Amino acid sequence: MKKRFLLLGLLSASFLFLHAQQNAMIRPGEIWKDIDGNPINAHGGGVLFHNNTYYWFGEIKKGKTWRVPGVTSWEDYRVDASGISCYSSKDLLHWKYEGIALSPDKKNSTSDIHYTKVIERPKVIYNDKTKKFVMWMHIDKDDYGYAHAGVAISDKPEGPYRYLGSEQPNGQMSRDMTLFKDDDGKAYHIYSSESNQTMHICLLSDDYLKPTATYKRILVNANREAPALFKYKGKYYLITSLCTGWDPNKALYAEADHPLGEWKQLDNPCVGPDADITYHAQSTYVLPVEGKNNSFIFMADRWNKTDLEDSRYIWLPLVFKDNKPVIEWKDQWTPAK
Ligand code: DGJ
Repeated sequence: MKKRFLLLGLLSASFLFLHAQQNAMIRPGEIWKDIDGNPINAHGGGVLFHNNTYYWFGEIKKGKTWRVPGVTSWEDYRVDASGISCYSSKDLLHWKYEGIALSPDKKNSTSDIHYTKVIERPKVIYNDKTKKFVMWMHIDKDDYGYAHAGVAISDKPEGPYRYLGSEQPNGQMSRDMTLFKDDDGKAYHIYSSESNQTMHICLLSDDYLKPTATYKRILVNANREAPALFKYKGKYYLITSLCTGWDPNKALYAEADHPLGEWKQLDNPCVGPDADITYHAQSTYVLPVEGKNNSFIFMADRWNKTDLEDSRYIWLPLVFKDNKPVIEWKDQWTPAK
C-alpha cells in the first residue's frame, strides 16, 4: 500500500515538473497556455509592470471569424468584441488569468464597447499622482470608419476597468495605438491618424485621461501602424508596420531625442529568415525586462485572419547592437533573469 502511494506521489510530482518545464520557455508561434492550462487570449496587447508583477492586457478574440459584407476595398475579417483580458506573471513565463479587465456591452448597440464594435490594441499605464490605472484602446465600427480612442480607468491593475468614453484626439482620427510613459511621469498617446497616412504623438493630460493640444505629426505620409515605443539610453525608438490589413509586412524603427522631437525613420530591426515580413507577425509592444539593461521583449501578433482566435504571439528578444535595435528569430528562449 505504502509503495503504491509512493509511486503515485512520484508520478504526480514528475507530471507537475514536466508541466512547469513545458511553460518554462517562450516559444514564439506555439499555443501559449496560462497556468490553468487554457490558451492565452490577449491579442494586440501591451504589458504593465507594477509592484514586481507583469500585467499583460490584450484583445479577447473569441468565436467565429467572418468577413464584414459591404467592405470590399480590404479584407475586413472580424470577431465579436469580447473585451480586454488581463494576465499576471512574475517571470514572463507563467501567466495567471486575472479575468476580463474591460467587459464589452452586451445590450446597448450605441455603446462604443458594444460587442458589434471594434476594441483593439489596449495599453495600460499607472498614474502615480491619481493612483489610477488608465487604459487606452482603439475603438471603431465594424468598417473601421469611426477611428476613435477610448479610455477606461481602474483602482487595481487587473481591473475591472470603467469605460469613460472615446474621442478623436484634437479632432484627428485615431486607429492603431500605443501608450508611452516617460521617466518624468509624462505620458504620450501614439496613434495612426489621417486615414493611416501619418502617425501622431500626443502628450496626455496630467491624469492621463485626456489628450492635450500638444501633439506632433510624425512619419508623415509613411502609411504606418502597429506602433511600439520604447526608450534606451536617453533615446526614443518607435517600431511600426506598414498598413496591409491582417497580412504581415516589413517593420521599421524610427529614432528621436524626445517623443515630441524629430523622428528619423531608419531600418528594419528584424534580421535573418522572414525578417522582411516580421516573422509573419506585426508589432504590438516593446517591453523592457525589469532590472536588466539592454534587454527588451519585442511583442508581435501573428494574425490568423480567417480564424482570429487562433492568432499567435511572437515574442522575441530585442537587444541593442552598435546602437541599433536588433530582433532575431528564436524557436524558444528565456528572458534574462
Ligand atoms: C491591422 C491592425 O494593426 C490591427 O490591429 C487590425 O486593426 C487590423 N489591421 C484590421 O485589419
